[in-house]
Amino acid sequence: VSRQGTEAAQPDAIVAAERRAERRAALAFLACAAAAGALAVVYWRGGNPRVEGILLGLALGGLGVGFVTMGQRLLPQGPVEQERHELSATEVEEDELEEEFERAASVGRRRLLMSALAAAVAGLGAAILFPIRSLGPKEGGTLSRTPWRPGMRLVTDDGRPVTVAAVPANGIVTVFPEGHAGSADGQAVLVRVDPGVLAPKKGREDWSPQGLLAYSKVCTHAGCPVGLYQAETHQLLCPCHQSAFDILDEAKPVFGPAARPLPQLPLSVDAEGVLRAQGDFSEPIGPAWWNRR
Ligand code: FES
Repeated sequence: VSRQGTEAAQPDAIVAAERRAERRAALAFLACAAAAGALAVVYWRGGNPRVEGILLGLALGGLGVGFVTMGQRLLPQGPVEQERHELSATEVEEDELEEEFERAASVGRRRLLMSALAAAVAGLGAAILFPIRSLGPKEGGTLSRTPWRPGMRLVTDDGRPVTVAAVPANGIVTVFPEGHAGSADGQAVLVRVDPGVLAPKKGREDWSPQGLLAYSKVCTHAGCPVGLYQAETHQLLCPCHQSAFDILDEAKPVFGPAARPLPQLPLSVDAEGVLRAQGDFSEPIGPAWWNRR
């Protein structure tokens, strides 16, 4: 009687241990789901690298603990040995094998455990997708355009419109599109030369009224501001690596590492003598990699 009692007690003990393991694994998966959800919320609200790191660690830790508990307590354990000379199983062994299979198959039927695992995977998956937002907006054509539009007035950095009379002979003025004073990509240098020395190329005949020429101030080598002008040679100079641009020849580089001309801003003069742009720069501004495909 006592032997029968021991045999009956063993499956009960196993079932109880499995239930405890199942609860532990489910708890770990739910902890993972909660940490992943909190991670998504922290990220969405602006982010905090330290908190995000802790939550990610908790989420992955919970997932790991859940899987390890499942693997150690709820799946059939080996090693399994079979006596080679025994070619047929006894009835008891067949029953035990069947029981073992059923127990293994029951892992998939444990609804609490499976639901917790699904919640953990869904939460972690959502949290992992969030950083896609950090890639920023699609570039589109924004790097090829600046704020300059046809008819826009040229203004100084304090927003005052620039008139023809305000630019001295052989002088240089930094100008911006009206409404965008201080614009990094719209900044241009305005230079006045003797109209007699101009020999504009085809298509640019009316871009430089009364000897006034405007070019992008962003160096085409590495983006420094081209802020120096040498009137004797009609060259704009970049102080960073000494590139020089000939403003009488479409601002082509004549010295230094820059390989592309400075884009030109086509100009016009209105009835009040105020300078206006005919449109955007002749090509994308700045270093060459912006517009190379
Ligand atoms: S940035 Fe102008 S020469 Fe290098």
